[in-house]
Amino acid sequence: MKTALKLSAVAAALCVSAAVQAQSNAPIKVGLMLPYTGTYAALGNMIENGFKLYVQEQGGKLGGREIQYFKVDDESDPSKGTDNVNKLIKRDQVDVLVGTVHSGVALAMAKAARENDTLLIIPNAGADAITGPMCAPNIVRSSFSNWQPGYAMGVVAGQRGHKRAMTITWNYAAGAETVKGFREGLEKGGGQVIRDLTLPFPNVEFQALLTEIAAQKPDAVYAFFAGGGAVKFVKDYAAAGLKGTIPLYGPGFLTDGTLQAQGPTAQGLETTLHYADNLDTPRNNSFRKNFAITYKANPDVYAVQGYDAAQLLGAGLNAVKGDISKRDALTSAMRKTVVDSPRGKFTISKAGNPVQDIYLRVAKGENNEVKAVAVKALADPARGCKM
Ligand code: BEZ
Repeated sequence: MKTALKLSAVAAALCVSAAVQAQSNAPIKVGLMLPYTGTYAALGNMIENGFKLYVQEQGGKLGGREIQYFKVDDESDPSKGTDNVNKLIKRDQVDVLVGTVHSGVALAMAKAARENDTLLIIPNAGADAITGPMCAPNIVRSSFSNWQPGYAMGVVAGQRGHKRAMTITWNYAAGAETVKGFREGLEKGGGQVIRDLTLPFPNVEFQALLTEIAAQKPDAVYAFFAGGGAVKFVKDYAAAGLKGTIPLYGPGFLTDGTLQAQGPTAQGLETTLHYADNLDTPRNNSFRKNFAITYKANPDVYAVQGYDAAQLLGAGLNAVKGDISKRDALTSAMRKTVVDSPRGKFTISKAGNPVQDIYLRVAKGENNEVKAVAVKALADPARGCKM
């Protein structure tokens, strides 16, 4: 009797260990929550392509584990954010969330990631609060905070002696926060923002606001738009006769991934961002070559951010040899790594945001070309982060 009991205990232990073994060899489930429709659709596709390119370069595995993808189109709609992220967390039971583009949707993702203790890598959305008051060990960004490129552009505009600037954006977190950064940089240089203009996301009826700009005659205009909205805004700014009359600045989203569609209306526009197409480094050159071969298209900043999201996950998984259950060791490795990005090497702040050079770029042909480093190793102030 005793022998029979012992044998069944051994068999049970073997079953458990086989199950654990199978689980530890199972693919890592990556939930991509991105916009695949609407004004930010191209951005979502670029992020996915960038992420998959890095995984492909590693032989399809990170930390020795295969990667399995689950996808949700978030439509850049904050009102559907919680339901959409729960499809990935609860229904698909993903190991890691990667998303998204729109700050309002990302805020819902960050809340769910905190509540469910799910690992979240943000490959675009700059919502300051996510690496501010909402900062958490399980949340890391591979992109920027909305404050970062805005502040850098304000510094440049101030250095150029612009005293009276107007701003124009969509009325949501990204627009408001990038304008706040711009104002801070500009005021440091002795300038000021005389008027903020907004319209609801993703509205593109700019005419009345452009008439207002023409009437006020500021020294400069700072605009945040991206994707399809940026294409329309830059074209309308030129059609209103403002190009060449009132300098137009913006965070680089105004001209990134959009130059072909904007045509001559974007040529010469200067923007600030953590990437420029023509950075002549072996890392950027090989990235651009592999991207072009794989997708028959040129990459943009969104592709870089997706690529670096995969690099961050890879750094974490390598440190724990693919054992994603070792969460503390994984997240601490992600935060300690120096990411060898096509944009140049960057580190991750305590709050989980890239510390990175912000370039001043100029649109030439189909490239945003680097002119200078606007601000070196710029860290987001991470106001309100208690980590
Ligand atoms: C945002 O919502 O944070 C965002 C969207 C597009 C480009 C940059 C930022």
